[in-house]
Amino acid sequence: MERFNLDGEKIKPLTICLIGGGGFIGSHLCEKLLYKTQHTAIIIDISSTKIKHLLRPYSCWFGRVQFHEINVKRDTLHRHLEPLIAASDLVINLAAICTPANYNTRPLDTIKSNSVDAIPVVEFCIKYKKRLIHFSSCEVYGKTIGSFLPKDHALQNVSELYLLKEYDSPCIFGSIDKQRWTYACAKQMIERLIYAQSALHSLEFTIVRPFNWIGPRMDFIRGIDGPREAVPRVLACFTGNLLRGKPLKLVDGGQSQRSFCYIKEAIEAVLLIIENPARANGKIFNVGNPENDVTIKQLAELMIEVYADVTKQPASKFTTIDVSSNNFYGPGYDDSDKRIPDMTIINRELGWKPAMRLRTILKLCLDHAINEYKSAIKNECDSLLEF
Ligand code: NAD
Ligand code: UGA
Repeated sequence: MERFNLDGEKIKPLTICLIGGGGFIGSHLCEKLLYKTQHTAIIIDISSTKIKHLLRPYSCWFGRVQFHEINVKRDTLHRHLEPLIAASDLVINLAAICTPANYNTRPLDTIKSNSVDAIPVVEFCIKYKKRLIHFSSCEVYGKTIGSFLPKDHALQNVSELYLLKEYDSPCIFGSIDKQRWTYACAKQMIERLIYAQSALHSLEFTIVRPFNWIGPRMDFIRGIDGPREAVPRVLACFTGNLLRGKPLKLVDGGQSQRSFCYIKEAIEAVLLIIENPARANGKIFNVGNPENDVTIKQLAELMIEVYADVTKQPASKFTTIDVSSNNFYGPGYDDSDKRIPDMTIINRELGWKPAMRLRTILKLCLDHAINEYKSAIKNECDSLLEF
């Protein structure tokens, strides 16, 4: 069936090279591309676990998907990466170390992964005149101006001091010993490099700044499909604790705020960016849902409520516990106080506005997690009882 973009132009099938396309966002984006469009996906990643279902032979999209197991960091001569970029119409770079527990404990890997490793991708896009959609992060905004004011200061309620705008807000990071900011700083550096290259070499680019997209397949449950000692992002931390009936840990009291957005709605925004280059080129887009702004404590309470409801248990069975960031993440951790995206630009250019409220999103995530992990958790409990 023919499809048309926002300007009424027929959408031509594209060959899209998705670097880091086997991760959380990549797996949802590839599903969308393969199920709902005629585009071809060339997926590059070190792992295909989350996209196994897309790689089965004899599926109706089979001729439109390829997986290449490549570690872009180790492909030092770019023998594998370069020809795949050359063969594509569009490159989407998602590859990154992007879990906060790594930022202060593996600072060099974090810096390299988020900046140095992305440089060849930018250079090949220039060399072969390919359009680039680069995944940055809302973390580039860092802390808000309001975070430096006393908590009860009247200016705290002035939205100009906390609403994050692509072309107005400053990027405010902590001191160098707060290694949490290695990620944000590396993402900012590659954004600046892309921006500078576009002026010099007419690179066609779009930068996406996701604001806490959540959904099924995000990260891993410790000790089941990921290492027991690793710390995933908050959705997976809380989900794992709920599944095991353990208290949800609130870092420094869970006072930081985040705006959560459902992955499938966010993927609609990415598809609009892909298919409307005239509107998206040269731009930076916040992609998030400002209506779903909560403190992490509120997130924990809502997850408990929804989980108790879904599993038909009393909410009083589940608790939270305060932990210090030093104990949870180690020295050098710091936090973004508040992250509320201004949505003017993406709404104006692409007409995108997410609608799904946090309670509904959490129900979808927890339903999925219960289905996916219940037998593994049961086995774990059984073996503990035997022991
Ligand atoms: P993810 O960890 O699930 O996906 C990243 C993928 O990149 C993984 O599959 C990983 O194996 C791959 N990768 C990492 N290093 C690689 C290498 N050297 N070679 C090949 N593949 C490599 O994370 P995600 O949530 O899907 O995030 C994707 C991108 O979006 C990242 O750049 C991240 O910084 C950015 N982002 C995500 C969110 C969010 O809400 N999930 C928010 C802000 C920014
Ligand atoms: C994340 C990551 O940096 C990136 O993946 C991404 O760029 C971006 O945000 C995003 O998803 O938009 P952050 O939101 O700090 O950063 O990551 P989470 O691990 O999801 O933590 C959110 C908040 O929950 C933090 O304040 C953290 O301290 C807290 N937290 C986390 C807890 O209180 N308890 C936990 O068990 C885990």
